Amino acid sequence: MSTDAIVLLKDDHKTVEKLFKQFENAEDGASALKRKLVDSMIKELTIHTYIEEELFYPAARAAAPETKDHVLESVEEHHVVVWMLSELSKMDPSDESFDAKVTVLTENVRHHVEEEEQEWFPEVRKAMGRKELQELGAKMIAAKAKAPSDPLSVRSASA
Ligand SMILES: [Fe+2]
Ligand SMILES: [Fe+2]
Repeated sequence: MSTDAIVLLKDDHKTVEKLFKQFENAEDGASALKRKLVDSMIKELTIHTYIEEELFYPAARAAAPETKDHVLESVEEHHVVVWMLSELSKMDPSDESFDAKVTVLTENVRHHVEEEEQEWFPEVRKAMGRKELQELGAKMIAAKAKAPSDPLSVRSASA
């Protein structure tokens, strides 16, 4: 099994995109399903932002210093996302703003993922090379077990 750090992050992105699609296809009154999908989004995105911020982003900056502005912008985007996740964790799916909040979360994350995958991950891949990406990915897999469950415990929440 590949432990390439960028492959792992893209797999996470696909997992979250599936949850977004399922939410978009959910019936209006399907509160239990919406709660379940949003709880999964909170879990997946909190672990993902944690391993990016603790391991991938610092390693990316070190290997490819020209990505610095992209990394800083990405952290600001994480900040918005983790606060939205925290709000959604306390909000009832029957709240009239619940779907609107999930829609804006989805838009933010899709934009963020596109920038990561199109604009700066390729530069990191070039700068790091295969072996370093494999080693970093192995560390990221191990770190998933240490990720917090509260989105506001991720570093960017208080950035
Ligand atoms: Fe990210
Ligand atoms: Fe990401």
